[in-house]
Amino acid sequence: MSLVRKAVIPAAGFGTRFLPATKSQPKEMLPIVDRPTIQFVVEEAIASGLHDILIITSSEKRSIEDHFDKNAELERRLAKDGKDAELAALRRLSDLANIHYIRQKEPLGLGDALRYARQHVEDEPFALLLGDTIVQSHEPCTRQLMRVFDFQGRSIIGLEKVPHDKVDRYGIISGKLINGRLYLLDDLIEKPTPAKAPSDLAIGGRYILTPRIFESIEKTTPGKNGEIQLTDAIRLMKNKEPVYGYHFEGVRHDIGNRLDYVCTFIEFALAREDIGPAVREHLKSLLK
Ligand code: UTP
Repeated sequence: MSLVRKAVIPAAGFGTRFLPATKSQPKEMLPIVDRPTIQFVVEEAIASGLHDILIITSSEKRSIEDHFDKNAELERRLAKDGKDAELAALRRLSDLANIHYIRQKEPLGLGDALRYARQHVEDEPFALLLGDTIVQSHEPCTRQLMRVFDFQGRSIIGLEKVPHDKVDRYGIISGKLINGRLYLLDDLIEKPTPAKAPSDLAIGGRYILTPRIFESIEKTTPGKNGEIQLTDAIRLMKNKEPVYGYHFEGVRHDIGNRLDYVCTFIEFALAREDIGPAVREHLKSLLK
């Protein structure tokens, strides 16, 4: 049994990088073929052994709650029409886990969103999975971080290696390699130029945090865009207790970014047994 039992998934942001699609629907509900992004995230939490999940939503994001809820009428119709596979898939979805919801009143930043989780997670370490980020890996990314946490007992930021000429798109860490893939964090730098970047290790949208993060968030003043930034809170926390970074095995897909979304969609479509071969043929003919 891991010391980490709860997962928090923030999904209350405006998604301005994906307008107009995100004007009236959450970006976390953008589908990758036929599964909304946030379903991949919830499935990763469950595959990591976390069955207590808190999703931070907003008044604009009702469809997220509906997606994981039971739809009795639709189930009756599928049963009547003999669509057993579809019915089983829907039932699996609504039985996935114990999902709780809380609404962030205003999207004032990821750090602010996390404040709403304090009462739910209480005095326990928890996993944080960004609702707009999918990580494809052999062992679920969150489980990799949980393993390290159970050994280390300190907050851990999931890290991915990014191309050096693209570091200016990410939050980059500086730190000391402890062993294998584990780093002791020294600093976090938002979008440095390649010349100034201390490493090519980017913050990857997955974390295990100790409850001390909540104290740090309370002390964090609004940063970039007037938002309470989680990276600023982690920087404060680092002055009180060590924070580690773990270079996880896997590939991160940021669905909130248009290009990444399109590439992820194509990649996942190509990997499907049912439609993959036809998609491949179509792409070939387009590229001729
Ligand atoms: P992002 O910073 O990528 O989301 O946050 P955003 O603010 O919606 O994006 P843009 O820049 O306007 O396009 C990562 C995750 O944190 C959630 C988002 O919903 C996303 O899943 N988030 C962000 C919140 O829950 N609340 C916030 O105030 C901000």
